Amino acid sequence: FEHPPVQAWPRLFAHRLGGALAPENTLAGLEISRQLGIMAVECDVKLSADGVPMLFHDEHLERTSNGQGLFALQDHAALTQLDAGAWFHPAFAGERIATLAALAEHTRHSGMRVNLEIKPCPGREQETGRIVAQQASLLWQGEHSLLMLSSFSLEALLAAKAAAPGLPRALLIENWPDDWPQQAQACAACALNANERDLSQERVLAVQHAGLALMAWTVNRPERAAELYGWGIDMLCSDRPERLQAIAAAAPA
Ligand code: G3P
Ligand code: MG
Repeated sequence: FEHPPVQAWPRLFAHRLGGALAPENTLAGLEISRQLGIMAVECDVKLSADGVPMLFHDEHLERTSNGQGLFALQDHAALTQLDAGAWFHPAFAGERIATLAALAEHTRHSGMRVNLEIKPCPGREQETGRIVAQQASLLWQGEHSLLMLSSFSLEALLAAKAAAPGLPRALLIENWPDDWPQQAQACAACALNANERDLSQERVLAVQHAGLALMAWTVNRPERAAELYGWGIDMLCSDRPERLQAIAAAAPA
């Protein structure tokens, strides 16, 4: 495996841009993270019906917006009309579903690191991997080291690799599949992003031995964060990054 030096990875990412401090996957959350000095974020990206990469987690619109039905059926223009903040708190009313382009605009100048999780609408795995990688490659031109493309979908990662081989990729896994080394090798991943519940010291060592960086999601308790950093894990993704900042800063290199 080829991958950048471990020191190059940030230790702590805010999950869904602002963790639990803001409506998920919104630019408001990104701004809160930045103000706290959390300079690395994770977010979910999928394609609108007309093929625009936009930041959204669920397949359905109801939980995190005032829209209804499937995200996959709506065009970009309709999606940008929705309110993606009021469900969380009235103070965030008017917050919009952001495009990938807006994310690039709001992160590049401050050097924020972005773990872009490709979360395709069902059936659009390949297309989503390809379009997100193509656009990200252009939007972050000259600054590809600020980015990591991750996905649970190997199909999406393979398409991303074909479209933009130079962008770092991470394989997301849950329930610790036995063939994670083969999957990671297939898409030339430089990191494995695992559910923290699946991790043991032995597994952390196995990933290190394979030459991959390792991220755990979603770690919210300081005690667990300290344990994982103590085992030598590289990165944590958290809903409570503000509670883990000191531990991340003190973590062994
Ligand atoms: O990328 C890590 C984590 O975000 C994966 O789970 O459901 O929060 O996207 P989810
Ligand atoms: Mg995610």
